[in-house]
Amino acid sequence: MPVREGSLFGLGTILKVVKISKASRLLEANFSRFQKMQTKTFSMMTNGQSVIYTIDPENVRAMLVTQFDSWELSALRKTAYTRLLGHGIFTTDGDAWKHSRAMLKPSFTRGEIGNVEMLERHSESLIKAIRLQQDQNSVDLGDLFFRMTTDFATEYLFGEPTESLERGVEDGFCEAFSGGLKYIGKLSRVGRLGLFFGRTKFQAERRYLYNFIDRYVRRTLEDAKDGAKFPSRHTFLHELSRQTNDVVRIRTELLNILIAGRDTTASLLTNTWHVLSHRPDIVARLRKEIASDLPPQKRPTFEELKNLTYLSAVFKESLRLHPVIPLNTREATVPTTLPKGGGPDGTQPVFVAKGQPVIYSSYAMQRDKNVFGDDAEEFHPERWLDTDEGKGIRPGFSYMPFNAGPRICLGQQLALMEASYVTVRLLQEFESIEARDNRPWTEEIGVTCVNKYGAKVALA
Ligand code: HEM
Repeated sequence: MPVREGSLFGLGTILKVVKISKASRLLEANFSRFQKMQTKTFSMMTNGQSVIYTIDPENVRAMLVTQFDSWELSALRKTAYTRLLGHGIFTTDGDAWKHSRAMLKPSFTRGEIGNVEMLERHSESLIKAIRLQQDQNSVDLGDLFFRMTTDFATEYLFGEPTESLERGVEDGFCEAFSGGLKYIGKLSRVGRLGLFFGRTKFQAERRYLYNFIDRYVRRTLEDAKDGAKFPSRHTFLHELSRQTNDVVRIRTELLNILIAGRDTTASLLTNTWHVLSHRPDIVARLRKEIASDLPPQKRPTFEELKNLTYLSAVFKESLRLHPVIPLNTREATVPTTLPKGGGPDGTQPVFVAKGQPVIYSSYAMQRDKNVFGDDAEEFHPERWLDTDEGKGIRPGFSYMPFNAGPRICLGQQLALMEASYVTVRLLQEFESIEARDNRPWTEEIGVTCVNKYGAKVALA
């Protein structure tokens, strides 16, 4: 396996990561390193450790699926995320993870995901917020999407929304949550070095969030004790309160699922609407599909949304070019091998020591011209569609925005449903979209990856 020279103990690599991240070029720099070295797997000293970098689908498949038991989450991520999230689904492995996943699953049943009335209410609040800002000639949909997904996720999980769309920057919850995530996102990339910046602010944000969530938890536990009937709609909080009366345990799981549910969908919507505002051809085709499949102004149902194949291709393409989780890491739990990257031509297995981190980049994998063709860098939803001329692309493990294997995203359907519903409703409501920012998509990596400049548009 090629070894890339790093500086002494790899400290230089970390300082470079900080510099490149600040310049919003981490993903591109990592991608071009693979291209320059003409390899899909190499190792480099990073932060005092030999780290393997790979974009080989066979290696990723081994870590996530076929050799799942020999791998766990990276220590860097667990240490960083635990500071805010405690020990929940995003920060644990083995039996603790299995337990969290089993507790979460009932909240993702088909019945819960298909709750379009709730989506309609939040879409209406979004449309109202857009109209309130309309006379400013430009709306940042990015900011509003983050507020809307906060409202949706809090109602979905606790049974009550935080009303962040209505309150704007006055909503302490949304602001504290964003600040806290930024901090742990930074720690997970640069390690303890990040502890020196912004710690006091982080501690205040964390205190605010814990107090806020604990109020909901205590109230629900009190209700349960008094034998009050839970609402007919199943929420994650109610499910948890059936299984334990430990406030910290419940708060931990709630925070973990909130991080999963809010930023991911908001980032997908922001990235997609940034593209839509510059691509009238895609918007026209979307409008045509919506008009032919849904009667005018009809609110879409779950089944109708699932049948909008072009809309689904637009989201697939958005997640391909601008993956919301563009980089991920696993560590070997035992001395093991990865199937590819060794030998003179990289086709042989490579040895991985116990505890050695392996970083994979879905951003780079999903731009591979050998898989996606010469136009891999272009936004072209049509590549996913089956036509009379042939089938759309099926890239297998070269494309996995929601991961794969036993830890595959639990919220994939819910996220796509939410993003589809909101997009259809905005297109039904507004006849014209104009971009108000001509800068190209630029990475901003926190816990998720989103266009740094949001989605500034004029809607009429
Ligand atoms: C566009 C939206 C989304 C994307 C791209 C996405 C992507 C991912 C990815 C890549 C992972 C794997 C992380 C890892 O193992 O390192 C993951 C895990 C997870 N996601 Fe999502 N996600 C999205 C939305 C959601 C939503 C809306 C929810 C729930 C409300 C959710 C719940 C989860 C959970 C619980 C896990 C942990 C699974 C486990 O470790 O067993 N996700 N997601």
